Amino acid sequence: MTTRTMDEAAKVFADPSAYADDDRLHAALTWLRANNPVAWVDQPPYRPFFAVTKHADIMDIERANDLWLSEPRPLLATAEADDLAKAQLEAGMGLRTLIHMDDPHHRKVRAIGADWFRPKAMRALQGRVDELAKHYVDKMAEVGPECDFVTEVSVNFPLYVIMSLLGLPESDFPRMLQLTQELFGGDEEEYQRGSTPEEKLQTLMDFFAYFNKLTQDRRANPTDDLASAIANGRVDGELLSDVDCLSYYVIVATAGHDTTSHAIAGGLRALIDNPDQLDRLKGDMSLMPLAVEEMIRWTTPVKEFMRTAAADTEVRGVPIKEGESVYLAYVSANRDEEVFDDPFTFDVGRDPNKHLAFGYGVHFCLGAALARMEINSFFTELLPRLDSIELAGAPELTSTVFVGGLKHLPIRYSLR
Ligand code: HEM
Repeated sequence: MTTRTMDEAAKVFADPSAYADDDRLHAALTWLRANNPVAWVDQPPYRPFFAVTKHADIMDIERANDLWLSEPRPLLATAEADDLAKAQLEAGMGLRTLIHMDDPHHRKVRAIGADWFRPKAMRALQGRVDELAKHYVDKMAEVGPECDFVTEVSVNFPLYVIMSLLGLPESDFPRMLQLTQELFGGDEEEYQRGSTPEEKLQTLMDFFAYFNKLTQDRRANPTDDLASAIANGRVDGELLSDVDCLSYYVIVATAGHDTTSHAIAGGLRALIDNPDQLDRLKGDMSLMPLAVEEMIRWTTPVKEFMRTAAADTEVRGVPIKEGESVYLAYVSANRDEEVFDDPFTFDVGRDPNKHLAFGYGVHFCLGAALARMEINSFFTELLPRLDSIELAGAPELTSTVFVGGLKHLPIRYSLR
């Protein structure tokens, strides 16, 4: 019989505040990679799991998607929230998005939206994204010489892009911003409407009401947008149910928003903290695609996903039973000394850069090309106009166990 000992270090995974303290987080992750790369975490209010911190192990798990399933526990939630989600699903009211599904169903549902994220669709969207990037850099110029970059710029720009892709009217954007933050703000009080599962359910119900109407509209009058593709998409010849349509809109709207926002804000902070890298990039803008990749590795906005074993197995020699779950610690994988030279150095020319910030395998981020395009477009607009930039206060990170990054980034700058 195996004895499972809970490491002090492994507590960071079940502690949202750890993600608001980079030094503490990375000290724990570095220790775990070296000493206990498949660590048992038994920390209420979460059900126990194994935290996997090595890059190679996370890739192996994500590659073996018939052994390691997304259902029934795709991400870390409290036992209470897991139970509520299960009850909602059984009542036909639960969200069941791409991240919750396994093949073969997952592949069919993913195919409905996939065309909208391919290179051809990205090229069609490039002009709109560049226009929005310019709009937000102009806004920085207008509100300067100081602003909170997160609240003024980085939360708005990706939301506008994703809402444009979905085909929603601009007047609805502020409402969507609020709902997304309530759904995804996790443990941050600042974003919460309320903290009880019932209050969280109310946010979901608001999403439901908005998007159900959208499905009806797009079925009656299909247009050339992603919302129409979802509303009229079919699996095995059948239209998606209302709740499956809703789930699709929700995953696109939420996954496409805060993630990119955190990468842009964290990327800007990394450039401020590393002025040599900022000068290097300004002096050679052809480095931009590599710099974008490095910003995504550096910030790793999605902290984790989980998988559950479909059969008894092992990871790095640690036995794992059928039904037990593993936590894929992307933040740790992206600082793995065995994969990255000087992983704690922010290097805008890093090449190769095999980070796992977009995951790996069949669930690999559907919007990766869009996220890269947005970040590229924003910094391509900003940097040639930027004469100087510095912090104007202490940056603040979100407390979260899922998607997070900077919630405030006060900056002082001069722009052309
Ligand atoms: C820097 C920004 C982003 C990051 C770091 C990110 C990260 C991720 C990660 C880690 C996953 C799970 C991968 C896995 O399980 O292997 C994922 C899935 C997904 N992402 Fe992103 N994402 C970003 C931007 C976007 C954007 C802009 C969209 C646009 C809609 C998007 C849509 C999705 C969707 C739909 C999935 C589910 C895919 C599936 O399960 O098949 N993401 N993303």
